[in-house]
Amino acid sequence: MVALETIVSLCKRRGFIFPGSEIYGGLSGTWDYGPLGAALKDNIKRLWWRRFVTSRDDMFGVDAAILMRREVWQASGHTQDFSDPMVECRRCKRLFRADQTEVSKCPECGGQFEEKKQFNMMFKTHAGAEENPESLSYLRPETAQGMFVNFKNIIDSFHPRLPFGLAQIGKAFRNEIAPRDFLFRTREFEQMEIEYFVRPGEWREHFERFRAEMNEWIARDLGLDGAKVCEREVPDDERAHYSRRTIDFEFDFPIGRKELYGLAYRTDFDLARHSERSGADFGWRDEKTDEFFIPHCIEPSFGLDRTVLALLCDAYREDEMAGEKRVYLKFSPTVAPIKAAVFPLLKNKPPLVEKARHVYGMLKGEFGDIMFDDDGNIGKRYRRQDEVGTPFCVTIDFETLDNDTVTVRARDSGKQERVLQADLIGFLRSRFK
Ligand code: GAP
Repeated sequence: MVALETIVSLCKRRGFIFPGSEIYGGLSGTWDYGPLGAALKDNIKRLWWRRFVTSRDDMFGVDAAILMRREVWQASGHTQDFSDPMVECRRCKRLFRADQTEVSKCPECGGQFEEKKQFNMMFKTHAGAEENPESLSYLRPETAQGMFVNFKNIIDSFHPRLPFGLAQIGKAFRNEIAPRDFLFRTREFEQMEIEYFVRPGEWREHFERFRAEMNEWIARDLGLDGAKVCEREVPDDERAHYSRRTIDFEFDFPIGRKELYGLAYRTDFDLARHSERSGADFGWRDEKTDEFFIPHCIEPSFGLDRTVLALLCDAYREDEMAGEKRVYLKFSPTVAPIKAAVFPLLKNKPPLVEKARHVYGMLKGEFGDIMFDDDGNIGKRYRRQDEVGTPFCVTIDFETLDNDTVTVRARDSGKQERVLQADLIGFLRSRFK
């Protein structure tokens, strides 16, 4: 298994991900996505949205505000329960998560710990010019609540029938005591979440359906190695305050087997609480049975940054090609940030460069994520593309000028074949599926 530091340094060197606020010494728990990281993340979001929203007719996409009133978090239980136990060292005053310190002494200076305290992880801010208790609001620690509070709006504007779901992709913020392990535990991250509303008696079957669907997403859309993924039934004492059942989907990260995604049965906890506190009517008259109830909720929750991390770790390969060591990322073409790179064999031969520019324009118009590179020798250009996971490189050489064929080189095998320029789009498209 690749070391996490190897992934961190590749990400920085090749323009995937940089430390947040780096030129000022960095801001712990924040990372900035560069061009390739942003493209990778965007590809994941598009795949997710297609699988869970646009390909279905029971799902409604929303994009709610990140800033939400404090009453939302009082009702959801987050102001009270969304906390981690923390210990402070008496001597050096450093803070640690109590559940991550195995010993009763400070790992930094050996000092004694104070009594455990609860530390609420929500980021506070003030909306408006005045800072007073009335203006206190929070950055959302989960995207979920933006969907619960819009439940009635969706019913009034779209009149869905049960079961149906709301889906959202967006930022969430948690003031983690110990942000660590690159993208794994950060203070600002993105979630892709679904709140799926069902009849109370039918939650088990929908829970199982989403469990299967999440496994399909992991295996088919992301193509993660199945041997590195496993499910874990979360025991009572570890579940979030709102959940009656949770399954974690864990992944073998370089830091160990850890949570990638969660699937929770949130009962009617959130809708009932918001209804009670805000006065909004979330009651449902069942069209089938005429019963009256508050819908129950199944919540598949996907961390986007953890998906990026899992994909990077899973794709990382080292091998030897033509007697040289090389590193490559074995991304599937659907997530690869660059789908193909186009090179003129030599950059000082105008007919080659002109032709390469033409082929580049043609592929870019068709596929979007295409790169042009004429810097350095061809071997170096291949290595650069291998390291960022580009599935194919297309080289325009002297033979191209004679017979309109180009060389297409496959990343994983290094195998090269000649393809007629007229067939190139079809050739690549059939391999991008
Ligand atoms: N709405 C449910 C919820 O937020 P969660 O298990 O707290 O549940 C869901 O978070 C997912 O969000 C996790 O499975 C993980 O992928 C991601 N996540 C949570 N905290 C994170 C953090 N500090 N940094 C990066 N990703 C995080």
